[in-house]
Amino acid sequence: MAVRNIHKSFGKTEILKGATIDFEEGKITAIIGQSGTGKSVLIKTIIGVMDADEGEIYFRDEEVTTASSDRRKAIRRNFGYLFQDSALFDSLTVYDNIAFPLVESLGMRDKKKIAEIVAEKLEWVDLPDVGRKMPAELSGGMRKRIGLARTLASQPEVLLFDEPTTGLDPVLAESINDLIVRVNEEFGITCILITHDIQATFRISNYIGFLYDGVIQEFGHPDDLSSTSHPVLRKFIMNSFSDLEVTGCPDM
Ligand SMILES: Nc1ncnc2c1ncn2[C@@H]1O[C@H](COP(=O)(O)OP(=O)(O)OP(=O)(O)O)[C@@H](O)[C@H]1O
Ligand SMILES: [Mg+2]
Repeated sequence: MAVRNIHKSFGKTEILKGATIDFEEGKITAIIGQSGTGKSVLIKTIIGVMDADEGEIYFRDEEVTTASSDRRKAIRRNFGYLFQDSALFDSLTVYDNIAFPLVESLGMRDKKKIAEIVAEKLEWVDLPDVGRKMPAELSGGMRKRIGLARTLASQPEVLLFDEPTTGLDPVLAESINDLIVRVNEEFGITCILITHDIQATFRISNYIGFLYDGVIQEFGHPDDLSSTSHPVLRKFIMNSFSDLEVTGCPDM
């Protein structure tokens, strides 16, 4: 999975100016950068809720951007995503929320099979008994788990997370980070992660890209990035770790 030379403007403001990044299959790649630099815009162009003005998006060497619209839809069925608000349907039970993509996107009709998958995913996120509840009855952390269960039900090959831990207390945030690692390790799903939690990013990611001034300016393993000479990135990382006295802080 890769994006090449992505450009995106809003009015006269050019947000992405040729962003290029490779997402290695089966690995966790994070995109970090200051607020408003276009991280969410970049993921939106990947999943297709927003069109790039220019540039290419590849899934397994196939160019998504120039594919027919049917083919594009088919390719994008391999993508799952979890956004900050979990985006559950408030009027549907948890069960129906998870069953929804199975019926609507995958066209499954076998009720027994659907029930099996829903139960399996609820079990996986450690919430086996909430199927009959409405989303409003759940805590933020639980909603997030249900959002993940729903995404996993359609067996994506690539999962995109936009700020999955924002708004959660540190313990819950940790449990979501653990789930991302499990998703990656147990199912081999390629994970693309955007988060302000830089400490977690350095711990759980295989690769990190730094988006600045519309392009990915630095890219590498967390260890490589922690010894970067890029002044803005150095400052960005240092600020994120300044409240940490314990080890785990990159060697700056
Ligand atoms: N639909 C849109 N219409 C106009 N401007 C937009 C739209 N979506 C995003 N922008 C602008 O693009 C810029 C980048 O937004 P984006 O949400 O991608 O930032 P971000 O890097 O995800 O920031 P944050 O870390 O705060 O989430 C912002 O200035 C934003 O106002
Ligand atoms: Mg964002």
